[in-house]
Amino acid sequence: MQVKNQLLNPLQRSKESQIFNTTLRTRIVGQESGVQSLVDLYQVFCAGMNSLDRPVGSLLFLGPTGSGKTRIVEAAAEILFGDSRAMIKVDCAEFQHSHEIAKLIGSPPGYLGHRETHPLITQEALAQYHTEKLKLSFLLFDEIEKASDALWSLLLGILDKARLTLGDNRLVNLSATMIFMTSNLGGSDIIELLTGTMGFAQPTDKPDKLDSKMERTATEAARKKFLPEFMNRIDKVVVFHPLRQEQLEQILEIELGMVQQRVLDTARGQFLFRVTPAARAYLLREGTDLKYGARHLKRAIERNIVYPLANLLATEQVKLGDLVCIDWDEEQGRLVFQKEGEGAVLPVQAPERRAAGAQAAQTAHTIGGRPAEVLIPNVISSKVRNYGALD
Ligand SMILES: Nc1ncnc2c1ncn2[C@@H]1O[C@H](COP(=O)(O)OP(=O)(O)OP(=O)(O)O)[C@@H](O)[C@H]1O
Ligand SMILES: [Mg+2]
Repeated sequence: MQVKNQLLNPLQRSKESQIFNTTLRTRIVGQESGVQSLVDLYQVFCAGMNSLDRPVGSLLFLGPTGSGKTRIVEAAAEILFGDSRAMIKVDCAEFQHSHEIAKLIGSPPGYLGHRETHPLITQEALAQYHTEKLKLSFLLFDEIEKASDALWSLLLGILDKARLTLGDNRLVNLSATMIFMTSNLGGSDIIELLTGTMGFAQPTDKPDKLDSKMERTATEAARKKFLPEFMNRIDKVVVFHPLRQEQLEQILEIELGMVQQRVLDTARGQFLFRVTPAARAYLLREGTDLKYGARHLKRAIERNIVYPLANLLATEQVKLGDLVCIDWDEEQGRLVFQKEGEGAVLPVQAPERRAAGAQAAQTAHTIGGRPAEVLIPNVISSKVRNYGALD
């Protein structure tokens, strides 16, 4: 057989990992290297190139609070398994005392309460979110700096050999599992690096230089705190960056899109809403600051948008197909809700409560981002104000 020399392109990604990449980027703002490392691992797994005696990969996410370290894993689970909770999540803060490790792996036979303890990490638990096409599992250790010594040694075994021995001696194989660990260690040092020079983000250093400074700061903090044998077993340390103002605006957009999707998923009250720029600015003021990233944004949206909308629905001031405008009233210092139209959406059967699969988020984004483009046949102007819901 004669084969001509043919130049290959090792950078080309498969269709499935390209889709994963683009969908993840619609949900995670910035944090390029976080997204990139997840997509890389996924590609390795899809190609079947992962080693059988190690986990598919292990990533340590460092960086300030509210920058997306946990969210990126949830978003990946949403995309791949259709549910943001499709993972085993270990909140290390709950396992600070060595005896609590039994909650993770179960206690040995003969111990008091042996039968009542259901270990969190088992082969069945790892397999519970498998789909027909994807036999992959996610294991997330959140706030790893709070782990006890017992948890550390367990984790070292998992990272090294992809194996875990349960209390009753059963073996768990984690070779088809991606391990994620998060910590905000070094996060406050990063914020300090930034606040030295500015309020939100006009540092004097060039962005590249500042990025590498931030990365060094976080990695050094991790190296000081964590054992070298742990750091050496991790495939990659990814430093998440503080979110800039325009990134927070994009996150607000995504979150509002998710609320719109929730409204469209309700049984009887599917309606559209739009949020004016002034109201968005208010939500951003309420929900974000440099120190907490986007952590409070969701809460601000719940309090200021979701609760009032739920009240309007429950009292039937807003009905199926309405279009509601949410604006900021400077004089009164509060958000005002105004019905702008009817017949904005066609009634559709409420879907199964879906955990925002790829398609759902796409719809949510489109509708949440541009509800003003929806055709409004009968514009009426009944002003609906929400009293008392905004404190
Ligand atoms: N980069 C991002 N892209 C999209 N949404 C984000 C991003 N960062 C934060 N968010 C939003 O903020 C919320 C909080 O973020 P997340 O839970 O990921 O913080 P974290 O980095 O894990 O912080 P902590 O160290 O305190 O656990 C998320 O649920 C999400 O709504
Ligand atoms: Mg987190």
